[in-house]
Amino acid sequence: MKNLTLKSEVLVYEERSELPEEMANLLSQAEEAATRAYAHYSHFQVGAAILLNNGVVVTGSNQENAVYPCGLCAERTAAFAASSRFPEVPFHTIAITAVNPVEPLSKPVSPCGSCRQVLFEYEQKFNQPIEVILSGQTGPVYRFSCVEDLLPYTFHAGFLP
Ligand code: THU
Repeated sequence: MKNLTLKSEVLVYEERSELPEEMANLLSQAEEAATRAYAHYSHFQVGAAILLNNGVVVTGSNQENAVYPCGLCAERTAAFAASSRFPEVPFHTIAITAVNPVEPLSKPVSPCGSCRQVLFEYEQKFNQPIEVILSGQTGPVYRFSCVEDLLPYTFHAGFLP
């Protein structure tokens, strides 16, 4: 018998003032993106901001639909927009946050499995870890050093013939 390992080590910033400037900037762009969500049904507004290796930031927000499954999360909206505009530029960091209009979100928003899988694809494509910053409206901010830590041992292109 032997152990398989997980890479994970998550940094937790208890105070916003502890955030490095570049992270704080990206997070505020994600916050701004959340205000542009079309969250007509859930009223849960999510924003994502992706910093690319070329310094460009591409943002996205959740876009809902009366046919619920047709909607898309903020993270995938941002990732697909970034990859459509700059297909050859790796993702350096993604910051994700959300606004709960009922009561302020006091813990970091958690990306869904589909978004993790989509982000992992770009991590694999460019063979470069994507840093993930997760935040709520208040409370701590989490910093993961790669998407793989959020979805260990998932399916990827390497399994395909
Ligand atoms: N949502 C996101 O956009 N990203 C997340 O990380 C969590 C959930 C959206 C999907 C839907 O529009 C709303 O939040 C409620 O699930």
